[in-house]
Amino acid sequence: MTKVLFLVGSLRKGSFVQQFAKAGEKALEGKAEVSCLDLSTFPLFNQDLETPVLPEIAAARQLVSEADAIWIFSPTYNFAIPGVVKNALDWLSRALDLSDPHNPSILHDKFSTVSILANGGHEQAAAQYRALLPFIRTQFINEVTMTKVNDSAWMDGQFIPTEEVVANLEKQADALLAAIEKGPVATEASW
Ligand SMILES: Cc1cc2nc3c(=O)[nH]c(=O)nc-3n(C[C@H](O)[C@H](O)[C@H](O)COP(=O)(O)O)c2cc1C
Repeated sequence: MTKVLFLVGSLRKGSFVQQFAKAGEKALEGKAEVSCLDLSTFPLFNQDLETPVLPEIAAARQLVSEADAIWIFSPTYNFAIPGVVKNALDWLSRALDLSDPHNPSILHDKFSTVSILANGGHEQAAAQYRALLPFIRTQFINEVTMTKVNDSAWMDGQFIPTEEVVANLEKQADALLAAIEKGPVATEASW
């Protein structure tokens, strides 16, 4: 079965984005196996820590290599990609053989997509993901579900996706699975 690895961009207990990811998991039910990469295991990126490969980075790379795609569920932080996601992608974007930084990373040709939950700055964060994910040579599926936090969530902590959001997540899941089925398209390094 197709495997999709989730990256959830909020580490907060009770996070709305984590609940949003649950809705994403439902959209893949019966169609793909979902697992989650724990972004709290990544140290702050530092080139001095790259060799020898840290066990937590080796473990993360293993999970990525076993997956057909990564699906990022993200808040916007100051109208931008949150640091925990950027930090993990920086680690994962590094060449497996550092003798040449153009060598493939574990993300090379991995399918990717992103969904964003925030109250403002969706388009700004989406624009950053649309630039970053192809730049690091993932096969980016530009079907981005965006939503706001429902008002009652601020009182009871429960994120409830609207019917439209559930439908969008299903559309996004289907677009991702169709692209995986078709296989990667040719890309070129942009630097
Ligand atoms: C550093 C920081 C910056 C934030 N910037 C934004 C923002 O630009 N737009 C927004 O709608 N919410 C912003 N928020 C609020 C989060 O998006 C909000 O807490 C949301 O619920 C998602 O996070 P959660 O999964 O932790 O619940 C910010 C929160 C933090 C901690």
